[in-house]
Formats: sequence, C-alpha cells, structure tokens
Amino acid sequence: MMIQAIASCERRELKDALVIPFFKGAQAAFDIGDLHEVVSGPIGAGDFTGKANETCVVWGKEPQEKRLFLVGIGEKTSCSLEILRRSFGSIAKLAQKYKCKSLNILVPEIEMLPHEAVVKALLEGLLSASYQFDALKNETVRNEPTVRLEELTLIAPQIHATAKSGEQTTKVMEAVYRARDLINGNADDTNPQFLAQFAKEIAAEFPRIKTEVKERAWIEQEKMGLLLAVSRGAAIDPAFIICSYHGNPASNDHTVLVGKGVTYDTGGLVLKSPEGMEPMRCDMSGAAVVLATIQAVGALNLPINVTAVVPACENAISATSYKLGDVYKSRSGLTVEITNTDAEGRLILADALSYAQEALSPTRVIDIGTLTGSIEIALGNELMGYFCNSDSLAQELTNSGQHTFERLWRMPLYEEYKKGLDSDVADTKNAATRKGGAILCAIFLQKFIKDIPWAHIDIAGVAFAKEANRYLPKHATGIGVRFLVDYFEHLAKNTDN
Ligand code: BES
Ligand code: MN
Ligand code: ZN
Repeated sequence: MMIQAIASCERRELKDALVIPFFKGAQAAFDIGDLHEVVSGPIGAGDFTGKANETCVVWGKEPQEKRLFLVGIGEKTSCSLEILRRSFGSIAKLAQKYKCKSLNILVPEIEMLPHEAVVKALLEGLLSASYQFDALKNETVRNEPTVRLEELTLIAPQIHATAKSGEQTTKVMEAVYRARDLINGNADDTNPQFLAQFAKEIAAEFPRIKTEVKERAWIEQEKMGLLLAVSRGAAIDPAFIICSYHGNPASNDHTVLVGKGVTYDTGGLVLKSPEGMEPMRCDMSGAAVVLATIQAVGALNLPINVTAVVPACENAISATSYKLGDVYKSRSGLTVEITNTDAEGRLILADALSYAQEALSPTRVIDIGTLTGSIEIALGNELMGYFCNSDSLAQELTNSGQHTFERLWRMPLYEEYKKGLDSDVADTKNAATRKGGAILCAIFLQKFIKDIPWAHIDIAGVAFAKEANRYLPKHATGIGVRFLVDYFEHLAKNTDN
C-alpha cells in the first residue's frame, strides 16, 4: 500500500474517489471549501445525514474526482475510534464496488481525539475491510482480475504526524494481512514447515529478528512427549519455531508468546464431525498471530524484547495416531492420561510452555490459540477469553483490548476446578467434562507454569468467522495481532530505556 500525506484539498491530484467525512447533521468534519456545492444534493434532500456508518456516493464533475464518497462518523461529541474504524470499513466496501485503486481521504478533525489516533483508526477500518483472499482462485479462468486499493493520499494540515501514523498503521495492517493469509491458506500448504519458512522470512527482512527452527530430532532430544504424541498420526514432521525480536538489548524484560500451531485438527482418533472439521485449517491461528506480531514489532522497531515460540504439528488420524486411554510423558515430566485426542492444543502448548520458561528466561509468558469450542459457547464470537495469574498483567491486557476493540474477557482459574482433571493412572488427564471446558484447558496449562506472570488467551470464538462483520472479513480475522502490538507499544512506553 502506497500512502502519503498532503496538507490541503487544493493540492490533491485526482484519484478514483475522494472520501469526505461528516458529523451527524451533515456537518463536514473538514473544511471542504468549494466542495459544499457538489455534496449539497443528497444533503439538501435529507438523504445523507452523517450518522455513524452511513455512506453516500456523489458523482462529481471535473475538476473534482469522478466520485465522492461521503461517510458519516456520528455525533461530533461522541465520535470514537471504533466508530471511525467501522465507518471507514464501509468506505472499503464502496471502493471495492467501484473498483477504486486510489483514494483521496480528508482526515476528520475531531476535538476529542488525538490526530494520530484518528489516522490510525480510520486506516485500520479501511485496510482491514479491504482484505481479500484470492490466492486459491484462478483469475485466468474467471477472466476477472481482482482490483485492489493500492494508493492512499491522506489530506490533513499536520502532514508529518499524518504520514508517520499512516506508515506505522500500514505496517501493523500488513502483519494482520500476513496472519490472515496464513490462516486462510490450505492446511496442506500452511503446514509446520511453511510456518517455519515464514518465521525465517521475517528474520531475513528485519535485522533485529532471529529465527531458529527445530526439527523432529531436537524435539525428541528435548523429550517433548506431548508434542510428539499429537504429531504421531501425521504424514509430516512437527516443527518447533523460536522467533525472537531484540529491540532493547539493555533490558532484561522479555515477553514470551506461545502460539498454538496445529496446522490441521481432525480430532485424531476422537474424530471430529464434518461440520466441526471443515474450518480446522484455522487451528494454527495462535501461531499466525504471534509470528505476525513479531513481524509488526520488528517493522515498528519497538524498544522491547519478545520471542514467539510455536509448537507446530498436525493432529491427523491414522494407524499411528496417539491413543485414547494411554499415558504420555510431557517435557516437564508430568504424565498425562489422554482422555480426548481432540484436546491436542493444550498438549503441545504444555511442552512449549515448559521449554519457554526453562530456556528463554522470560519475565512473562502469554500463550494464545484456538483452544476450545467452549470459549465460543461462553462468550460467542465477539470476545477472546483469557485466564491470568497476575492482576496487573490482566489489567494491561484488558486495556489493550479496549484500545484496539480486540476485546477480551477474564475467566476464572479457581482452585475448585482442579480436581476435574484428576487421573487414576497418571498425574493428570488432558480433558474431562464439556462443562467449563475452556476453564479446564486453562487449569491444565497452569500445571506447566512456574512462578511467573502468565496469561492464556483462547481465540477459538474469534479467529475464524462464518460471516464478515464490521470491518472484519469472512474467515480469518487476524484478531490478536493489533491487540498484542498495542500491548507492546504500551510496554515500550512504560519500561525505562
Ligand atoms: N481446535 C479445537 C477448538 C476449536 C473449536 C477451534 C472451534 C476453533 C473453533 C480444539 O483442539 C478442540 O478440539 N477442542 C475440544 C476440546 C475438548 C475435546 C475437551 C473442544 O473444544 O471441543
Ligand atoms: Mn482438537
Ligand atoms: Zn485444535
């Protein structure tokens, strides 16, 4: 995406459309000078009032753009960043409809909100909703090349601040796109080795990122018995990816992110139903989110230290699949009775968490992935659920969720749930009742956590959507990336450098 900033409307070159934001009452949110006349038609007729999310197309004559997209951003006094995201998400749909490759955008002036944040939010909405996944379509056969938005000109008097915020937001949204591409891609293509390749590519692109890929022999040497158990039925090898970003070598502060990288989840011998299995190429969403987050912090050059750890494998069904009722030994030594082969995510995370704490000297650990259908039953498709053993970390995560509108809700880790995983034959079961299923998953993971601030984020309800919603596309949403980047931006501000 080409992005630039210019100071005034008069200086613009004509693009495929000009975007003009309005407050409720059809009051332009920018000094639009002689454009008033052009937009007076729909406003005079009362057909466009500027309420949030409302759009209207006006066809202009030279010297104006061919089309003007009017967009409502609601009450002047209550306009929020989320309203801007949604309204500019609607602009993305208009741009698609009219096959626009370039836009001129008048950046609204909103007293209550900092200019940089306004630029950021409108681009988040616009770019998020402009995402199209067509890697698996055949353009030649359809004879209908996909048109993409390629060029944006932001019009605002503060050109430097505008350009900077625009560039930074674009970098984060590029990372969101990468996460979505990985998740939407065929499970046969986006396998553990492909994820490893992606991690190597971002290391080649950004000097402060280093990637190490560990293969099966290393995983065996590390005695990661649970990762090996889940991988047993697959025709492809597991991989263990360690992708680190060192942006503040002087500091010992080090966050480790662990992302669930099940590149396809059949359920194993406890085979899923066809409806349950079909979307399971999304089961590496946690991996995609943590790797894309490293890409984003690398692109932004944030002064923080963070490592993404990804245990990657396929939960396949075959004669060699790991068996229900058998006991497998984890890397930490704890033995696990397999009561459900479909509760595989927590198994591979457990081995990764124990490695991360022992080998990477973290100051906090955050794991993220599509762990349970239960979290979707509990919270639906709007929120991530998270579990946390530290109130201050929990507060920071909740805050970043509010800033980005990638919101999360804290769930309990109460003592009383623990007995649910008691096993007669091993140190623990991997799963038990369906009731409180997301909590039991967190309780299981906690058995592998030592004395360190830790959060477990279950994104099964939000990672892969059945329908497009707000500025989010159908299928992979990339939710998690913007939220984690926001968390690291705040961490960068709050730690002494
Ligand atoms: N990958 C699934 C969870 C999932 C469900 C992700 C829906 C995305 C959408 C996970 O591995 C799983 O199968 N969990 C089981 C656990 C149960 C067997 C204890 C579940 O939630 O049913
Ligand atoms: Mn499963
Ligand atoms: Zn799974």
